[in-house]
Amino acid sequence: MNQHYPVLKEEVLRWINLKDGGIYVDSTCGCGGHSKYLLLSGKKILLICIDKDEKMIEIAQENLKNYSNVIFIKGGFENLSELLKEKDIEKVDGILFDLGVSSIQLKDPERGFSFQVDGPLDMRYDRNSKLTAYEILNKWNKKDLIYIFKNYGEIKNCERIVNKIIERRKKKPFRTTREFSDFICKHFKERKKIHPATRFFLSLRIATNSELECLKKGLEEGLKILKEKGRMLVISFNSLEDRIVKNFFKEKEEIKILTKKPITPTEKEINENPLSRSAKLRVGEKNEKTEVL
Ligand SMILES: C[S@@+](CC[C@H](N)C(=O)[O-])C[C@H]1O[C@@H](n2cnc3c(N)ncnc32)[C@H](O)[C@@H]1O
Repeated sequence: MNQHYPVLKEEVLRWINLKDGGIYVDSTCGCGGHSKYLLLSGKKILLICIDKDEKMIEIAQENLKNYSNVIFIKGGFENLSELLKEKDIEKVDGILFDLGVSSIQLKDPERGFSFQVDGPLDMRYDRNSKLTAYEILNKWNKKDLIYIFKNYGEIKNCERIVNKIIERRKKKPFRTTREFSDFICKHFKERKKIHPATRFFLSLRIATNSELECLKKGLEEGLKILKEKGRMLVISFNSLEDRIVKNFFKEKEEIKILTKKPITPTEKEINENPLSRSAKLRVGEKNEKTEVL
């Protein structure tokens, strides 16, 4: 079914602490799963739904068409303050980041996010951006490929497989997700209990969308637009993202960490939605300013 289950939705509702009259941002609205849950709370809020992917915005608009207190914006959360300024909004009471890719994007063969469905090697959230996974895989040099597989996929000793990729692409470029996934299965043994192509696809997706740079910028932007006592909630799905969030919360004096340890899904949620198993939610609150005399 063409569906995305919002992960940790009850925890999100509890921790975001909605207040009547408040303005909240769902900075990765996807198809609007979390947004709908917040709107169903019955609180009188204004909700700003942002996504980089035009198609997701269209789906969210359809799913939330019965609510008049929602504004939709197509854009990247790395530009949060600018996007909100265009709507004459400067400060907000809460922000949610639910990082990564949605099941709907994953299942759409056209988008090329998954090795489980065959499609072009695309992987862009924003289809107006130039860089695709095809470009990276077929054109980037050896050093850069090793960098992304090592640092984004945390694949050790990847030089051998990168040499093989370069050898193969000289004869014929990799065109589809299936071609690349079959190639990896043939030449790479995965030690973990996951599909051998998993971490290669993750590396390509992160690189295609500059995900880690966007996250760092998005967190800074989020903090800038939060009101005092406003909360920032971040759900991450891999250790790289989680490390960035954890360090950001630790380093910023203006943030009070509300979740010493990240919140993770219950066994019940993982059984219902296995994709939620790696989710980690961290929550920070913007401190009230203390007057310097
Ligand atoms: C995990 S999904 C969110 C699902 C959503 N919470 C729901 O319940 O339907 C992540 C979404 O973030 C979007 N996205 C990824 N990077 C983004 C960025 N830098 N700015 C805005 N949206 C982004 C993706 O297009 C995707 O739709």
